[in-house]
Amino acid sequence: MKALLISLLAAATLPLAAQRDASIRIYPQQGTQMIDKNIYGQFSEDLGACIYGGLWVGPNSDIPNTKGYRNDVLKALKDLQVPVLRWPGGCFADEYHWMDGIGPYEKRPKLVNNNWGGTVEDNSFGTHEFLNLCEMIGCEPYISANVGSGTVEEMAKWIEYMTADGESQMAVLRRKNGRDKPWKVKFIGVGNESWGCGGNMRPEFYSDMYRRYSTYCREYNGNKLFKIASGASDYDTNWTEVLMKNVGTRMNGLSLHYYTVADWNHKGSATSFSKDDYYWTLGKCLEIESTIQKHIAIMNKYDPKKQIALLVDEWGTWWDEEPGTIQGHLFQQNTMRDAFVAALSLNVFNKYADRIKMTNIAQVVNVLQSMILTDGPKMMLTPTYHVFEMYKVHQDATYLPLDLICDKAQVRDNREVPMLSASASRDKNGLIHITLANVDLDKAQNVSIDLQSEKISSVKGRILTSADITDHNTFEKPDFVKPVVFNGAKIEKGQLKISMPAKSIIVLEVK
Ligand code: AHR
Repeated sequence: MKALLISLLAAATLPLAAQRDASIRIYPQQGTQMIDKNIYGQFSEDLGACIYGGLWVGPNSDIPNTKGYRNDVLKALKDLQVPVLRWPGGCFADEYHWMDGIGPYEKRPKLVNNNWGGTVEDNSFGTHEFLNLCEMIGCEPYISANVGSGTVEEMAKWIEYMTADGESQMAVLRRKNGRDKPWKVKFIGVGNESWGCGGNMRPEFYSDMYRRYSTYCREYNGNKLFKIASGASDYDTNWTEVLMKNVGTRMNGLSLHYYTVADWNHKGSATSFSKDDYYWTLGKCLEIESTIQKHIAIMNKYDPKKQIALLVDEWGTWWDEEPGTIQGHLFQQNTMRDAFVAALSLNVFNKYADRIKMTNIAQVVNVLQSMILTDGPKMMLTPTYHVFEMYKVHQDATYLPLDLICDKAQVRDNREVPMLSASASRDKNGLIHITLANVDLDKAQNVSIDLQSEKISSVKGRILTSADITDHNTFEKPDFVKPVVFNGAKIEKGQLKISMPAKSIIVLEVK
């Protein structure tokens, strides 16, 4: 019986139709919507080695650093053009008391990270360290405030501390701690996962909590706040419905969390998986589109003018922690499979740029689907990093609608996976960028791209691919998977002809 089941599962990933060339029609004249650069946002929780060891080693570390921030990580984040960074959580945010993380390091109380392995931390990375980091890498900070176990006063004073000028009590305290001018902080999250680790609230109760807490999110000296309500998990449309009804435009944004995870008790290895697992993962990843559509349909009902943004402020893969690492630190490797989850998800997010104004992949360093992994002084970039780097051309560009015809495969759990994924945009200089993913593990694809009446004079590109879908970078071979120049794009009779190898991700620049 078990053998029969296994062969049925193996047979489950079947192409629905015979292999044919794929075609894409892009409508360059119909682009109206800007892809908010914050769709390419990141998330840094005080969790495992994301902050301590990943971003921050402290000024006295032997690891090369600038004022305590790792130089190698700083450079990688600048190269990535991170537009926005969320902190301090996640679940951690609803137990964080910001006043413990200001003032002289030696006077800051130790903190036991109850959510994440009970690790003891020294609080040396606090408000100043986070906001200064954002200034150094040139991104917007997104502060997630404590609603679950904090008070309204604590949250209100935090905003005052960060953004008030003049003689206000908190501004004076900030100055005493070495920062004269207020920082610019726009994004404020009012709680996180308030249906779960953020207080186990019901949506009706959280709506009232949101109304109360957000009342005291004051705007000082012209600093405009963008207030974000804690949103639903995955398919929980009731949460969205209740918040839209009871909170409405008191919030500027409503969040959504969606993880590509098989089973919370058996998540599976990040590096050892079957073809069938790979296709299942992409099916689950792509289900984010129908999930988003359901939440957006509810938002459209209450907010047809699209005044409230949807922010997918946690997403990505979640595998078993790497053997031998600290339980609760969520350290996982990152293969070409993760690169495909990133590529496909970003192509979906671009498409809904009229409602989705920010997303934050979980997480930036050493946690879940990371951009960067570190081990003491060693550091490497993951395949997911390379996808974000290749896709950065879409930031603040105009989304170009497209139609796509390609083969599809029927995968486990009754999902269908198209063998090709694409997105296109036009940037401020008039260049068109097209991102493509051939998800087929075995077959190359010829793709014709029709850009209508657009005059094309040149095309160039880069490709991310590898011999095996389980391929990944290691500290010994940090450049094993990385993008290279792509020579498989040609212009023929005014159309683009792309010859895509199996399991490849491509970015094209078209002039
Ligand atoms: O990203 C890890 C955790 O996942 C976050 O802390 C929480 O918000 C979510 O459940």
